[in-house]
Amino acid sequence: MRTLISGGTVVGPTGAQAADILVEDERIVALAAPGSQVVTAFAEGARLIDASGRLVVPGGIDVHTHMEMPFGGTYSSDTFETGTRAAAWGGTTTIVDFAVQRKGEALRPGLDAWLAKAEGNCAIDYGFHMIVSDVNEQSCQEMDVLVDEGVTSFKLFMAYPGVFYSTDGEILRAMQQARTNGATIMMHAENGIAIDLLVSQALSRGETAPRFHASTRPDELEAEATSRAIALAKVTGAPLYIVHLTTTGAMEAVAEARGQGQNAFAETCPQYLFLSADDLAREGFEGAKYVCSPPLRAREHQANLWRGLRTDDLSVVSTDHCPFCFKEQKELGREDFSKIPNGLPVVEHRIDLTYQGVVTGEISLARWVEVNATTPARMFGLYPRKGVLAPGSDADIVLYDPSATQTISSTTHHMNVDYSAFEGLAITGRVDTVMSRGRLVIEAGRYVGDKGHGRYLPRKTNEYLM
Ligand code: URP
Ligand code: ZN
Ligand code: ZN
Repeated sequence: MRTLISGGTVVGPTGAQAADILVEDERIVALAAPGSQVVTAFAEGARLIDASGRLVVPGGIDVHTHMEMPFGGTYSSDTFETGTRAAAWGGTTTIVDFAVQRKGEALRPGLDAWLAKAEGNCAIDYGFHMIVSDVNEQSCQEMDVLVDEGVTSFKLFMAYPGVFYSTDGEILRAMQQARTNGATIMMHAENGIAIDLLVSQALSRGETAPRFHASTRPDELEAEATSRAIALAKVTGAPLYIVHLTTTGAMEAVAEARGQGQNAFAETCPQYLFLSADDLAREGFEGAKYVCSPPLRAREHQANLWRGLRTDDLSVVSTDHCPFCFKEQKELGREDFSKIPNGLPVVEHRIDLTYQGVVTGEISLARWVEVNATTPARMFGLYPRKGVLAPGSDADIVLYDPSATQTISSTTHHMNVDYSAFEGLAITGRVDTVMSRGRLVIEAGRYVGDKGHGRYLPRKTNEYLM
């Protein structure tokens, strides 16, 4: 099966150019000058896709999702089927989700359980990081086995005592292992011990509304944990990747470590670029729709996060997609904000929301592609199979209409959740066509994919290590 995508502007991490893309079966075989002889010869008998007026970009890679994730006494509401379909609608063709080790168990049963949930249910390709919630000698040895099998990144938590939390000693031990096996340690950097005290003090004062989720998780406790994680990584020499970074202070700590040559990296998420603690303070219980951790911050941080994306202090935009319905799920915390399941529905909107940064001049077109596709691929061992439009790469291709307009709403989104955190937001740009390994998934505003198409992706280690 041959496909020719012609007439578009191909955008990669180094810039944009007019080029046609030649696809054979699942792979890109060439990029060629429009109208060249090679294109004319290839067009004979090929399926033709007209990309005129469109940007042609590598499929997005979202390296931070939680489908069917057990959390706060419930499960995130997107399954691998609904979540990967919604991701495709939004121009994402690969997710890297988090398998969870349960306390008292080995890593393997957790990974196997997540592989089973995903198998045969995904519209797009997928991989896994592993959440290590029980760091001990056995789990550290097991990390080596998983790295060899293509699970090359492990998430640890400085937050959520009693659930996923690891002590500094446990973190140090896991980092020692990562130093030797090449894995990247992903860190949820919030000081969970201090936060838990602030939460119980707030509740005892009768402060039960969603807005207290932010005031009990102050900026400083993210910056402090980030600095501590950097120090522990420096002592061990382990590669460190701070997930869902939200504050200027935490970003400065990462920038300083990077400036000193440490293998330290960070991502932020669209919710921290577009939403703020004001949303948590919405009337009644509406603020529950915006409870995630780290919490939404004061608006002042947003310009700095955009700057970080420009300067590479922040390397990646992921979504931390972890949706819970307002009804019956977020409502679990009506009387107590600490019982509201943490997480927001975002997987469908990352490419569109970050494109607004191109519209307003915060980031270039090339950087837009880099933070959404190329860098995540390199950081998590998927490059050059994913994250770039080049001969030999998977034909994961998005046609993006840069001048279309749309308004985000739960009435039109495809995520399995009963509200939108971005309800009513009018934006410019829209995903038009999505191809995963040469197969159309979204075509002319219709889903034409299938849930068995997505394949598991074993991954190599981080390409950026010095
Ligand atoms: O609120 C969030 N972020 N929920 C998902 C779990 C996590 O910490 O990433
Ligand atoms: Zn986290
Ligand atoms: Zn997360």
